[in-house]
Amino acid sequence: MKLRSSGWFGRTGKDGLIYRAWMKNQGTPSHFFEGKPVIGICNTWSELTPCNGHFRELAQCVKNGIYEAGGFPVEFPVMSLGETLIKPTAMLFRNLASMDVEESIRANPIDGVVLLCGCDKTTPSLVMGACSVNIPTLVISGGPMLTGKFRGKNIGTSDVWRFSEDNRAGKMSQEELYAAEAAMCRSDGHCAVMGTASSMACMIESLGLSLPENAAIPAADARRKTLAHLSGNRIVEMVKEDLKLSDILSKQAFENAIVANAAVGGSTNFVIHLLAIAGRIGVDLTIDDFDRLSKNIPLIANLQPSGKYFMEDLYYAGGLPAVMKELKSLLHNDCITVNGKTVAENYEHSENYNDEVISSVENPFNPVAGFVVLKGNLCENGAVLKPSAATPHLTQHTGKAVVFENIEDLKRRIDDPELDVDENSVLVLKNVGPKGYPGMPEVGNIGMPKKLLDKGVTDMVRISDGRMSGTGFGTVVLHVSPEAAAGGTFAVVEDGDMIILDVAKRILQLDIPDEEINRRKQNWKPSHKEEKRGYVQLYQQHVEQAHLGADFDFLKGASGSKVVRDSH
Ligand code: FES
Repeated sequence: MKLRSSGWFGRTGKDGLIYRAWMKNQGTPSHFFEGKPVIGICNTWSELTPCNGHFRELAQCVKNGIYEAGGFPVEFPVMSLGETLIKPTAMLFRNLASMDVEESIRANPIDGVVLLCGCDKTTPSLVMGACSVNIPTLVISGGPMLTGKFRGKNIGTSDVWRFSEDNRAGKMSQEELYAAEAAMCRSDGHCAVMGTASSMACMIESLGLSLPENAAIPAADARRKTLAHLSGNRIVEMVKEDLKLSDILSKQAFENAIVANAAVGGSTNFVIHLLAIAGRIGVDLTIDDFDRLSKNIPLIANLQPSGKYFMEDLYYAGGLPAVMKELKSLLHNDCITVNGKTVAENYEHSENYNDEVISSVENPFNPVAGFVVLKGNLCENGAVLKPSAATPHLTQHTGKAVVFENIEDLKRRIDDPELDVDENSVLVLKNVGPKGYPGMPEVGNIGMPKKLLDKGVTDMVRISDGRMSGTGFGTVVLHVSPEAAAGGTFAVVEDGDMIILDVAKRILQLDIPDEEINRRKQNWKPSHKEEKRGYVQLYQQHVEQAHLGADFDFLKGASGSKVVRDSH
């Protein structure tokens, strides 16, 4: 076994002396790292990422496992993206964090790497970066929080939207809101519903990038630490076997992840992150694959926001292994996973302990799951809708557009009693796409106009070039591509235009003559702000459209693990 790290620690002369001597300032004896697999632990711990706040403890468990298996662990920090705090939106920095991860892995004497992922963007950014290096890699998710408990009821992140709407409508006082928020996040871990973080954790397990059970063990459950220890054991073996990301991430593995994500009612953000990961590892995945593969997949996990239960319940019911076993006839069962076993081998003995939480494929909670990819003149490259979160009667709808040019325009006018809107209107929000905002924030489930809320209206067709929180719901069309800032038809929608949404036929159409659309396009001028310096300028110049995963054009693919120049 020729270790990559021997290019540092195995050298003679001045260079080897320098590489080894500075490692010894931590009191590390030579035999700890010379000739042993050096395992990086890529840690997104940060007090500004509360969902990952327990990661130093988790990293220690990984280290114990690595030492036990004869490896040498080295923990290193990378940019951590805390979904709730980072402004203007964590998505703006996903690609930046992925560059940090890629360069940190390649530049250092690391033979294998364990990625500690949790809050939404910390998963795709780390996996994207690692894919562009492609050394043996194993992922551990931080695990969901325990279910929130408020006044005798279970609550979770999905209730944020309901609570805030109730507060706006005067049904919930500010004091009640404070009490609810204290009850919602009562333990370590990420959001406890099938939001984006849980969808990412399921994505990791169904891709085969973690040990089985990774997706749902609560952060506060001791078995999460055991999984971390066992992952530390396993990554050392993976280095010896030279089992790399590219050996695991086949097109079939991506297809498995799409099927699993549909069955658990995963977030729309899954689409954009999976496309970006595929782009890094060189798998030809397209937005149309999501529609094709999730079309016939039923919703079998009864989890919020599409269902009733929480991630904690999913774990007690058998976790993702029970889901994977139920999906057996729909999966590529011979895909290899990080433990060296196939999907079939990993899940053949899994059991479902609660059919209230995990149903059968034959008798699902909802026959409708996954994503619909809409096409039409309003979204030439596609747009995404999550049918299980939509109101059935609105999935075939024609209505007049009420257009907001940007988020500030929306905030200014949405609650205006004079706003010309009714329940049949279609709310359109422009300039919240990758380039336009920039960073594609989660504002696509536009808050309902107050005057309609007061009338008891709970859903309307809403369309934007932005994203939606994985915990959001409604008849919401997202990820319109090309975005308004790129000057497609979406950019020229005006108040009063008729818009046709037909989910069954996959149509999103602006119902005005082509000549009028072309006339408007000729007169169109971008209205978004272009940054003149720094990272945001780089972002706006290089970010691709949503249907391609919103990665940077220059980051597609991999540069491998070889360090090209060696100054020492
Ligand atoms: Fe971190 Fe929801 S805010 S997972």
